[in-house]
Amino acid sequence: MTWLITGGAGYIGAHVVRAMTEAGERAVVYDDLSTGVAARVPAEVPLVRGSVLDADRVARALAEHGITGVVHLAAKKQVGESVQRPLHYYRENVEGLRVLLEAVTAAQVPSFLFSSSAAVYGMPDVDLVTEETPCRPLSPYGETKLAGEWLVRAAGRATGMATAALRYFNVAGAAAPELADTGVSNLVPMAFERLSQGAAPRIFGDDYPTPDGTCVRDYIHVADLAEAHVTVARALRSAPGTDLTLNIGRGEGVSVREMIDRVNAVTGYDRPPTVTPRRPGDPARVVASAARIATELGWQAKYDVQDMIASAWEGWVRVHPEAARS
Ligand code: WQD
Repeated sequence: MTWLITGGAGYIGAHVVRAMTEAGERAVVYDDLSTGVAARVPAEVPLVRGSVLDADRVARALAEHGITGVVHLAAKKQVGESVQRPLHYYRENVEGLRVLLEAVTAAQVPSFLFSSSAAVYGMPDVDLVTEETPCRPLSPYGETKLAGEWLVRAAGRATGMATAALRYFNVAGAAAPELADTGVSNLVPMAFERLSQGAAPRIFGDDYPTPDGTCVRDYIHVADLAEAHVTVARALRSAPGTDLTLNIGRGEGVSVREMIDRVNAVTGYDRPPTVTPRRPGDPARVVASAARIATELGWQAKYDVQDMIASAWEGWVRVHPEAARS
């Protein structure tokens, strides 16, 4: 099979490309390079520069490369920005997906894997979030991911295309330093940035109803996440008509304070965090039940938060060599 991987030049997408090709699948990257980086795409993988909103370009890529499956990661992903620019997010994430699906179904591509997010759940009131937990997104970003799942599922039902929506929890780490996240919009890189600047990492609120008062999340290594894509892609190939919705997490909650303690240990900075007021809209606890994908497909994560932070730090130091302590 040949997989078109939209967003394949991005942080997560490049990991998916690597995992897919290492598993012997053929990959073609489709990316507008708005945030993606061409250098992340291996030389032997074709890179088509284009937007998913460009129906003709998508159709040509599908035909020219004989695409038999799509992994769709191209999207805007910043929660705060989505609140400021909701129409932009709906255009890129929902209209872009609709255009892509029109081309994909017209070309009768049999498999479609959609990158969704734990943001679809909003503020879940349960210890472990299952795929049956009600979806009540709190941001336009989360709304576009939920609407995206509906589009994908409906298109699959109408055409027989096998589909999957993977709900990623908090992604961190890198499979190689050059593939590390270059954005600074999540806890681990934000803590690295503060330490590199000689400042204390910040904890956004320590008065949550959690064991240490700080928010609890389910962190997943991007290499594990990428492997999950390989497993799911193969499951779609062998089961036409499938419709999967799967959490991708470890099922283990880690608090912000624990994460920052580990960041301090890994980096050698050892600078105690400062506590600031809560960031509006942050749920106290979001931890996946990882049972469904384990039971149905036999997949589970291999790496822990130590691996995530250590590998992310190697990537950070590659770009910011002055940050290294020894
Ligand atoms: C994690 C925790 C912060 C920085 C978001 C999206 C989610 C997904 C991943 C895309 C929170 C706290 C952070 C800091 C802190 N994105 N924090 N100090 O908000 O759980 O999830 O990104 O799909 O959909 O909502 O991730 O990494 O921003 O924050 O205390 O300097 O760390 O308050 O509790 P979040 P995050």
